[in-house]
Amino acid sequence: MTTIELVKGDITRQSVDAIVNAANSSLLGGGGVDGAIHRRGGPEILAECRKLRASHYGKGLATGQAVATTAGRLDARWVIHTVGPVFSGSEDRSDLLASCYRESLRVADELGARTVAFPAVSAGIYGWPMEDAARIAIGTVRGTETAVAEVRFVLFDEQAYDAFAAQAG
Ligand code: AR6
Repeated sequence: MTTIELVKGDITRQSVDAIVNAANSSLLGGGGVDGAIHRRGGPEILAECRKLRASHYGKGLATGQAVATTAGRLDARWVIHTVGPVFSGSEDRSDLLASCYRESLRVADELGARTVAFPAVSAGIYGWPMEDAARIAIGTVRGTETAVAEVRFVLFDEQAYDAFAAQAG
C-alpha cells in the first residue's frame, strides 16, 4: 500500500530516498525544478547525466521515460529524471504524463527506494493546467503497483497544493 502525502515547499529540501526531476530530454539542466535540483545538488548530478547521454541516450531521454542518477549534495540518495510532455491544446498527451509517474515508480522500485518525492511534472514551463496535472498525477500513482511506501507530492505554491488536495480527496 502506497501512502500519498502532499506538502507545500521546495523539493530539493526533502529527506526522501529519491526525488523526481521534471527534466527535459537533453538531461543537461534547465529552469524550474530542474534548475533548482542541479543548483543545490551540485555538479555530480550533471556529470552523471552527461555520462548517461554518452552511453545510453545519444538522442536524449524520450518524453514519458525516467532514469536515475546520484543526488549529489542533496539529502536524497537518488534523483530520478523524467521528461514530461509539453501541454498541447490540440493533442491529448495525458498518457505521456501518466507514463512519467509510472516509469519513475518503476525506476524507484529498481533502486529499492521506499520514499519518493514528485513535483507537479509538466505543470510549470511545459504549461499543463494544474488541475489536470494533479488529476493525472494522483490517479496514476494510485493505479500503479509499486513497493514505494510513500509518494510525497511537493507543491511549490498554494494553487498547486490546493489542486492536488482537491484530487487527493
Ligand atoms: N520544488 C518543487 N516544485 C517546484 C520547484 C521546487 N524547487 N521549482 C518549481 N516548482 P517546471 P515542467 C514547480 O517548470 O513544467 C525546465 O527548464 C513549478 O511551480 O519545473 O515539467 C526543464 O529543463 C511547477 O508547478 O517543470 C524542462 O525544460 C512544477 O514544479 C522544463 O522546465 C513543474 O514546473 C520542464 O517543465
